[in-house]
Amino acid sequence: MTAMRDRYLKEIGIPVWRLRASSAELSTVMTEPSGAAVGAAAAPRVIEPLPREVAPATEPWAELVAAVKGCTRCALHKSRTQTVFGVGRRDAHLFVIGEAPGADEDRQGEPFVGRAGQLLNAMLRAIGLPRSEVFIANILKCRPPGNRDPQPEEAASCTPYLSQQIALVQPRVLLAVGRISAQWLLQTDTPIGRLRGRVQSYGERNTPLVVTYHPAYLLRSPLDKAKAWTDLCLVKELLSRSP
Ligand code: URA
Repeated sequence: MTAMRDRYLKEIGIPVWRLRASSAELSTVMTEPSGAAVGAAAAPRVIEPLPREVAPATEPWAELVAAVKGCTRCALHKSRTQTVFGVGRRDAHLFVIGEAPGADEDRQGEPFVGRAGQLLNAMLRAIGLPRSEVFIANILKCRPPGNRDPQPEEAASCTPYLSQQIALVQPRVLLAVGRISAQWLLQTDTPIGRLRGRVQSYGERNTPLVVTYHPAYLLRSPLDKAKAWTDLCLVKELLSRSP
């Protein structure tokens, strides 16, 4: 766990300090630029995906992709460059849910491709899950102009798409990143600081849901990265439980 923590902290840009083995020395060591923490154990093991049938590109997926692509259910379709459906394994164990596409995502048609996306990728890698192993989508499939917060009517119009994605993927764990995503999914006004740090439950299947800070927020408030790390450890722990 120490090596994994060191890697996470390094990837997200926090210098790692650790007491030497002998507490009597009371001196600290810092992660080397190479990434190998002095005296650290072997590099963190990448979690092998559990054996699971790989879902083929079946009809329901094709229909859902087409429905999102042509969606005009709210006014956001008028200002979008393109819809942002979501990306990743259709049999992923972890489903990450953000808020809405930003300018980069609107341009590229993929969620979390900007600076916040880079940090999200690093956070996932730190628990042994490369981006390619998870499914990532947003509450909204279209960018709100000027990156304003989604309006409740927009989220309500778009949620059936997300619900279908979750029903198709059948993930073992959901990770809501950011206040907007967490509060919408849990239908609450509770502040994110009180939603994170424990296992919530989502939908009729009672899928375990973990809430953490949005990577864009963590870029502005790096002191909260340590709390995000504990949230990710909770995700890892849930995923390691037998199904
Ligand atoms: N922020 C989000 O919530 N989602 C994205 O896709 C990009 C930034």
